[in-house]
Amino acid sequence: MALLDVNDLSVRFATQDGDIHAVNGVSLSLEAGDTLGIVGESGSGKSQLSFALLGLLAKNGTATGSVTFEGREILNAPEKVLNTYRARKIAMVFQDPMTSLNPYMRISDQMAEVLMHHEGLTKSDAIARSAQMLDAVKIPDAQNRVRLYPHEFSGGMRQRVMIAMSLLCKPQLLIADEPTTALDVTVQAQIMTLLAELQKEFGMATILITHDLGVVAGFCERAMVMYGGRIMERSPVEPLFAQPTHPYTRGLIAAIPRVDQGHEALHAIPGNPPNMTGAPVGCPFAPRCDFAGDDCRRDMPPLERFATERDRACHRPIDLIAPLEVPA
Ligand SMILES: Nc1ncnc2c1ncn2[C@@H]1O[C@H](COP(=O)(O)OP(=O)(O)O)[C@@H](O)[C@H]1O
Ligand code: SF4
Ligand SMILES: [Mg+2]
Repeated sequence: MALLDVNDLSVRFATQDGDIHAVNGVSLSLEAGDTLGIVGESGSGKSQLSFALLGLLAKNGTATGSVTFEGREILNAPEKVLNTYRARKIAMVFQDPMTSLNPYMRISDQMAEVLMHHEGLTKSDAIARSAQMLDAVKIPDAQNRVRLYPHEFSGGMRQRVMIAMSLLCKPQLLIADEPTTALDVTVQAQIMTLLAELQKEFGMATILITHDLGVVAGFCERAMVMYGGRIMERSPVEPLFAQPTHPYTRGLIAAIPRVDQGHEALHAIPGNPPNMTGAPVGCPFAPRCDFAGDDCRRDMPPLERFATERDRACHRPIDLIAPLEVPA
């Protein structure tokens, strides 16, 4: 039995202009300790996919399909049930820690609250454990700084606090949604190094959500590339970079900013992310794809296995999607 099994998950939002089809028939499976990167441009459905797992969709959203955690169905489960999973078994870290931290409460009180509520610790034990956790995420002088307020930390330190908080109850699954997007490049690298160390130390399965395929390369064993709410390609990370088999993945790899070339995303994929209003028809990438034909505009290609642990959804043969000339 897998730790997490997502089957044919779809997410829709009702709006005045019609339904937004944010996630379309996504299936995935995660074992204990796995690291999966979910990659795609902004608006490809990455966040809503993860929100759906924990019943965190906005009021106008509905999710269909199935999500089991340790064999139990949790999709659309009652709040009471979901609350036993949130933070305890499945924890989340977001781009902006201030959306999850209360600006008016000391870090010690916010962290202690979690432990007192979920683990029944006394306040003094809870604060001691919180300080230990701040120490584990390498916040200097954790014993004293646990008493500070969120605004007394820098952006990078605040993200460390958030990560410490997410790990308090030793979750089996951590979902990190663009955890470094708001930070400058040096701090981004430090946070990703920290996350990788913690992942090894705590052994939790981790889903890393990012628009930056480069971030996935250093952290995840497997990657899932999403576009228009669908899976385009899925693969262990190494062969994905060595030989991307989908035009969209190829575009994403070409768009990874390369410090040595002194530019940011010069090769960004031309065109805009798809409008997701109305039921999807054909391959969502067709308007931006160099290989698109009438078949693509008409039929969505199924996600098919073509090698060990590798799946792709594209009408064109693999050898047509020429390998990239990326300098080592
Ligand atoms: N409450 C909502 N109502 C309508 N559309 C929404 C709502 N929340 C998200 N969406 C849409 O769902 C799509 C997927 O969003 P999201 O999963 O947040 O993308 P990302 O891949 O950037 O995380 C986007 O088109 C977004 O505008
Ligand atoms: S199915 Fe067609 S449009 Fe979609 S990625 Fe493949 S070639 Fe491009
Ligand atoms: Mg997002």
